Amino acid sequence: MAKPSISNAVRYIGVDDHELDLFEGQYIIPNGIAYNSYVVLDEKIAILDTVDGRFADEWQQNLDAELQGKTPDYLIISHMEPDHSAVISQMLERYPNLTGVCSARALPMMQRFFTTDYTSRMLVVNEGDTLSLGAHTLQFFMAPMVHWPEVMVTFEQSEGILFSADAFGKFGALDADEAWTCEARRYYFNICGKYGAQVQALLKKAAALDIKTICPLHGPILNENLEYYLNIYNTWSSYQAEDKGIFIAYCSLHGNTAKAALALEEIIASKSDIRVATADIAREDMAEALEDAFRHDRLVLAAPTYDGGIMPVMDTFIHHLMAKNYQNRTVGIIENGSWAPVAGRKMCEMMQSLKDITVLQPIVTVESTVKDSTMEQLNALADQLLK
Ligand SMILES: Cc1cc2nc3c(=O)[nH]c(=O)nc-3n(C[C@H](O)[C@H](O)[C@H](O)COP(=O)(O)O)c2cc1C
Ligand SMILES: [Fe+2]
Ligand SMILES: [Fe+2]
Repeated sequence: MAKPSISNAVRYIGVDDHELDLFEGQYIIPNGIAYNSYVVLDEKIAILDTVDGRFADEWQQNLDAELQGKTPDYLIISHMEPDHSAVISQMLERYPNLTGVCSARALPMMQRFFTTDYTSRMLVVNEGDTLSLGAHTLQFFMAPMVHWPEVMVTFEQSEGILFSADAFGKFGALDADEAWTCEARRYYFNICGKYGAQVQALLKKAAALDIKTICPLHGPILNENLEYYLNIYNTWSSYQAEDKGIFIAYCSLHGNTAKAALALEEIIASKSDIRVATADIAREDMAEALEDAFRHDRLVLAAPTYDGGIMPVMDTFIHHLMAKNYQNRTVGIIENGSWAPVAGRKMCEMMQSLKDITVLQPIVTVESTVKDSTMEQLNALADQLLK
């Protein structure tokens, strides 16, 4: 892979990971993931974050190639999640004069991660503090809960580079040939989705800076069309829908609920050219389904009744939505049952516990199989969704 170039003084030293099966132990990453890391070469030398521990050697080689025998002065610690912090203690041991730079909230976290207490090696910075490296000046801004409490971002003033921590990150290694938005969206809603208010606070701080380049901890360096990325982050973090459209999430034991969900899709297509996406949440990537639920302004949940409750995979999906603060959407519901259908009422209750959710009434009840009467109900639901 050709290393991304930033500038003469600011060098990329990150690594691509194509070996990991699941990011954070749960997200599929078909095109891998990048752990980005940077070094600023000036009178003083600052490293910005390390990488996942499995890549410590490769990263050290990247760093050594840029240092050319020089010794780094500072290690800026944006985030203590191990995919970025795993090599910190190794660095502090290797370079006895290296000073760590971190937020106050990173200190107690460090003591939980490392057996050695490195407090005396840390320079704790506060909101707006600056650190001069010579021609380059780093300025620090706290970004608590984007998406951990200790997170801070760093703005390099002379070149207008925002080192944005996990914000503006995406799944996919840097050598992956894929569009930014889909995998950035899946990353955003699954990793940061719960913290829209905190992302909004960070965007307000960013708006006051003259940013020319965004260097995130995952995914490509952004140096063109920054308005696009800032705007889409504003949409996502304020829980507005990115697209007008309907996402139908379904699961089915024997295929009848699936039939109803797909019939609804067809009815909608016959009435309108609105965007519709569907997913069998038992078979397709649930993180992608969660992303699609946030992307569109309307959601339909279709599930059978199961042991007096909701089929477990749909129960799980709704819990994922709840965990990520799903809100501000219109929701249609389709249930199925062969003797005492209750899934609809239960899905409705779960969704109504969320902020600014309108559940369309009446819910559609499939009695075991799709019949003419079911089609009438689905037709009525389609009309309500398109109103
Ligand atoms: C393990 C299991 C548990 C079920 N529990 C209930 C139930 O508690 N109440 C009910 O009305 N139907 C229950 N059903 C029936 C299904 O909800 C019903 O057959 C429905 O048609 C399934 O839709 P599907 O064809 O999309 O799988 C259960 C089915 C299975 C296999
Ligand atoms: Fe993180
Ligand atoms: Fe990360």
